[in-house]
Parts: sequence; structure tokens; C-alpha cells
Amino acid sequence: MIVPGSRSQPLAARLADALDEPLAAVTYDRFADGERIVCAPDVADGATVVASTPTDGTLVELLQLLDVCRDVDDLTLVLPYMGYARQDARFEDGEPVSARAVAEALDGPDTVITVDVHEPGVLDFFAAETTDLSAAPVLTDAVAQRADDPVIVAPDGGAAGLAEAVAAPHGWASDHMTKERVDDGTVRVEPPARDLAGRTTVLVDDIVATGGTMSEAAAALEDAGAAAVHAACTHPVFARNAVTRMTRAGVETIVATDTLSSAVTRTSVAPVLADALTD
Ligand code: R5P
Repeated sequence: MIVPGSRSQPLAARLADALDEPLAAVTYDRFADGERIVCAPDVADGATVVASTPTDGTLVELLQLLDVCRDVDDLTLVLPYMGYARQDARFEDGEPVSARAVAEALDGPDTVITVDVHEPGVLDFFAAETTDLSAAPVLTDAVAQRADDPVIVAPDGGAAGLAEAVAAPHGWASDHMTKERVDDGTVRVEPPARDLAGRTTVLVDDIVATGGTMSEAAAALEDAGAAAVHAACTHPVFARNAVTRMTRAGVETIVATDTLSSAVTRTSVAPVLADALTD
């Protein structure tokens, strides 16, 4: 049985279909004072909760779903997008390690599965057994439908592994930029030394949030003479005016997975999850 979180309904349905498992009836509501209430009356042993947590509200819903499932044997939690994973350390005095607070609160599952979690070290904060899966196998197919022999470019060193994994199956070249973050919405990037003149390029990152990273990276690729710039990411958070910002910076197409539903979601991580859950 697949138990969907409110922001993971399309992915949960695809996963239920891929695994030929029932999709649990879940409702998400609010009381008059605004507090949330979920209801999942038919959860059963062996259930898999699939719930991304891009917002505080979805995190509360997930805490409630896990409470509903507290007597379920063999419970798996799939966190396609784990909110707060980027605050994986205390960057300034007085700040929390938010990823630890979230992981410790998500207590109860026997297994936790993430997808391209921003920093794999956060998996150690969970009490459960953990696995981080890569969306690269589905991103690479989506990119292949849109770009001919591209150079895959990560906008920072942290995404270099994902870029390599997207490039490898087709034998495409991959490289990465260096990035300095100025503040939440502002970054500076240095393009790779490789000659990109006349090349089709695809920027690949785990998360697009404000689109600042992708926009700066796209501008740098255009300056380097790239013939075209496309973008692909696992998690389309798309805060504020991210899509407009990227488009104005010269990004021709954007491909994203369904760890979060968005207007540019063009591929699904359901096959990746289904493989892992049937191993
Ligand atoms: C951070 O290192 C991540 O990999 C992304 O590059 C970052 O989250 C993107 O954020 P934004 O779109 O706000 O620049």
C-alpha cells in the first residue's frame, strides 16, 4: 500500500501503479483555526508513505501520517524531496541544524528513502535504515529527448556527481563550475575552463530554489559562447520568480522530476523508487 502526502499525489499514484499496489485513501483538511488534519483510515502493515516536505505544512502532515502509521509493521517512508536538508550544519552561531531536527522528528519508519538529498550526511540523523537514490537515470532520458550531444554542466562542485551520472549513459562530456553564495538569492559562478563555444549545454543541479544559481550559470555559459543552454533538476522548488529568472537568463528548456509537481515536471522518479522497493 502506498500512502500519499498531499504534495506527492502524482508520484505516489505512479509508484502504486508501477508496483501494482493499492493507493491509500488519504484526506488533507484544516480545522477552523487553520490547524491541519489528515485522515488515512485503511493503512496496513508493509505500507510505504510517499511525502515530500517542501513546506512547514507538509511537514506537519507527514508527522500526522507517521502517527497514523505508528502501529504499522514494516513501514517505509519515501521522502522524495526533504525540506530543510540544506541547513545540514550550524553555519552561524545560534543557528539550528534543521536537517537533524527534522530527521529526528520523523521517527517511526523502519526504512527511509530519499532522492538526491542535498547532503547525504543528513541520512545519519535518521534512526531508521536509510538509502539515497539518484534521479540521474530518468533525467538523462529526459535530457536526451531535448538536446543532441550536449555538455552537461553542474553549476557547483556539489552537483558534479549528478552531472556525471546524467552524462555517463550517453557518453556525453560533463564538467562543473565553482560557486560562491553571497546570500539566499544571490550567487557568483565561475564557468569551467573547457571550450564551450558552439556547444549545446545542459545545466544539471539537485535543487532549483530561487533560480539564482541556474540564472548566473546560464549567463556564464552564454558568455562562454554556448550555442544553447538547457536546464535539468531533480527538485523543482521554484521559489519566487525562479522560472522567469531562468528564462530571462537564456535557459531554453527546463526539465524536472516529480519529487515535487511543477509546470516543468517532465519525468518521474517512480521507476527508480519502484526498483529500490522491489530489490
Ligand atoms: C545548493 O548547493 C543546491 O545544490 C542548489 O544549487 C541550490 O539549492 C539552488 O538554489 P537557488 O536556485 O536559490 O540558487
